[in-house]
Amino acid sequence: MSAMDPGGRNDAWPLICPVCERELRSGPGSLVCPSGHSFDVAREGYVNLLPPQHRVRGIEGDSLAMLQARRRFLESGHYRLLLDQLVAEVGSCLAHSDVARSDAARGACVLEVGCGEGYYIGSIAERLKGRGDATPVFVGADISKSAVRLASRRYHHARFLVADVRRRIYLQTGSANVLLDVFAPRDASEFARVVPPSGTAIVVIPSEAHLASLRTALGLLDIQEDKEAHVRERLRDGFRLADRKELRYPMELSADSAMDVMRMGPSSRHRTEDSAALGGDSIATEAAFVILRLERT
Ligand SMILES: C[S@@+](CC[C@H](N)C(=O)[O-])C[C@H]1O[C@@H](n2cnc3c(N)ncnc32)[C@H](O)[C@@H]1O
Ligand SMILES: [Zn+2]
Repeated sequence: MSAMDPGGRNDAWPLICPVCERELRSGPGSLVCPSGHSFDVAREGYVNLLPPQHRVRGIEGDSLAMLQARRRFLESGHYRLLLDQLVAEVGSCLAHSDVARSDAARGACVLEVGCGEGYYIGSIAERLKGRGDATPVFVGADISKSAVRLASRRYHHARFLVADVRRRIYLQTGSANVLLDVFAPRDASEFARVVPPSGTAIVVIPSEAHLASLRTALGLLDIQEDKEAHVRERLRDGFRLADRKELRYPMELSADSAMDVMRMGPSSRHRTEDSAALGGDSIATEAAFVILRLERT
């Protein structure tokens, strides 16, 4: 049976030490490697494994204001259909995973990279816990400490850590049976390192139609042309496309929600607030996601 902390989180997360890359084990209030490197577990339950010397200047991740806007927007349910789809995808990967047979002692691990304030991995953990023989460990990683702190406070069935996922995810090689990436940075070689053979990466990207009318109304940044082709090309090393789904549906956004879209995204760095562009009205727009399921080769 998996170890649980008093908050109900699975304690058996398969981490490595950022200094020597040996296995980290849970001690009282800290994580320790066999070489004696030790990392405090914060009161909220997260761990910051990104040492200052691994931080790249200028790469900070999302600010608290962006994260708060994202949380307001997500909690108003606009991407609920995407979440439902991801719960189904992850559930199906776990049901078909042979981890229970091959490594019963460790159990399965579901990782979200660039998890932000925790909506997807935290909700997936809540909805999938207790299914099957052993509850997998659900882990969210983000470079923003504010993100990890917010996520950890809200979602008690997942574990969160600070990491630069383009550099090192600080998970053991081959330990992430399912890796989830929703609108977040990708690194093919690090993804291929942590996902074992027969494991899965689920990558969600916006299609060109995503929020198109809203982006025009607010002058937000466009979705990069050929983004999907670009992402697929970059992940070809180590992964094969097993499934591709499009999820599209209309949305009516209040002026406040529309402004939160601006505040939570990269456009917030380039624009000052301009709600006048919406005239206080709601706006009809569309969500359009592409969900790629990639199998580790
Ligand atoms: C567009 S947000 C998506 C957040 C979340 N997946 C969601 O959809 O709600 C991108 C996230 O990636 C994080 N991020 C950016 N660069 C990163 C890096 N190198 N390593 C880890 N996280 C990173 C940001 O802090 C931010 O939370
Ligand atoms: Zn160490």
